[in-house]
Amino acid sequence: MVAMGGHALAVITVAMAAAAILSFPHATAAPNYTRDFDVTWGSDNVAILSNGRGLRIRLDNFTAAGIASKNYYLFGSFSMYMKLIRGDSAGTVTAYYFASSDGDDRDEIDFEFLGNLTGEPYILQTNMYWNGTGGREQRNYLWFDPTKAYHNYSVLWNPQQIIIAVDGVPIRIVKNNEDIGVPYLLRRPMKIYASIWDGSIWATRGGAIKINWGKSPFDAYLAKYNYDVCGIGKNSCVRKKWWNQPQFQTLDANEQSQLQFANTYKVYDYCEDRQRYPVMPIECTRNNL
Ligand SMILES: *[C@@H]1O[C@H](CO)[C@@H](O)[C@H](O)[C@H]1NC(C)=O
Ligand SMILES: *[C@@H]1O[C@H](CO)[C@@H](O)[C@H](O)[C@H]1NC(C)=O
Ligand SMILES: *[C@@H]1O[C@H](CO)[C@@H](O)[C@H](O)[C@H]1NC(C)=O
Ligand SMILES: *[C@@H]1O[C@H](CO)[C@@H](O)[C@H](O)[C@H]1NC(C)=O
Ligand SMILES: *[C@@H]1O[C@H](CO)[C@@H](O)[C@H](O)[C@H]1NC(C)=O
Repeated sequence: MVAMGGHALAVITVAMAAAAILSFPHATAAPNYTRDFDVTWGSDNVAILSNGRGLRIRLDNFTAAGIASKNYYLFGSFSMYMKLIRGDSAGTVTAYYFASSDGDDRDEIDFEFLGNLTGEPYILQTNMYWNGTGGREQRNYLWFDPTKAYHNYSVLWNPQQIIIAVDGVPIRIVKNNEDIGVPYLLRRPMKIYASIWDGSIWATRGGAIKINWGKSPFDAYLAKYNYDVCGIGKNSCVRKKWWNQPQFQTLDANEQSQLQFANTYKVYDYCEDRQRYPVMPIECTRNNL
């Protein structure tokens, strides 16, 4: 990793906190990217900020970049503040995801931030893979400019549901529907990843707009994160498994109305794509609360 000096603190102090609707307990250890993450891709383009409290990942015409958590986790909550590429980010993908492996049989929960031309809106695409099968995309615009300030992107994962939230507002719920034959992420621990790469072939307006290398380098910033998780093996939980309590197994009325608000920013849902899925996937009747 490349250490960065002066720029660092300024980046971190821009961090803003919106009024969170969901609020989860979290581990007390201060975040430290050096301690908790490894560089997995393009080490020249990963810079540690503020002595480990922040990170910059860069895409340029030499390399993409990425990091992965040192540990695997099974259930819990994880949130990370991110600030996306400023200006022309068309063709880029900034990803933040949870995955069991890189293999063909991987389990995954994905956030993919699809860049755009200057002034045009980013799309946040979320997706899920079970044993290598994905195709469960949802796409949302955001109700703020994600390049101007840090925002909080979080996941609560328990045996009943996965809540994907932005600044505490749930934008997507994935229920455990194993009772009707739909696979759920129950058995395999996952690492936490972040990366930045060239997605020109599909990311912006379906691939119509390519990356403009003249605007390189493309920088995204990661800042404070919270986690409260179980790792693998005995005594691996940070704390008691609070996420199994009843209030985390369903959404309350307030959270449901927040989800409805977020849904007004939704621009694509695989559950509504009849061309792609002439027969509606069975879980769709339940996931859309
Ligand atoms: C983060 O961890 C690294 C190595 O584990 C350590 O050198 C550094 O001082 C830590 N940063 C903070 C802010 O504690
Ligand atoms: C990368 O871009 C820079 C600036 O546009 C250019 O000078 C350089 O030759 C490019 N390098 C490669 C490997 O394309
Ligand atoms: C996952 O997929 C592989 C084939 O890619 C298959 O052999 C295996 O049985 C599957 N596992 C489960 C739990 O379905
Ligand atoms: C991010 O949002 C989650 C869900 O609302 C919350 O529990 C967590 O504390 C927030 N993270 C930070 C670093 O504030
Ligand atoms: C980019 O901007 C265009 C025009 O506003 C919009 O249709 C599109 O959804 C935006 N986002 C992406 C990732 O293509």
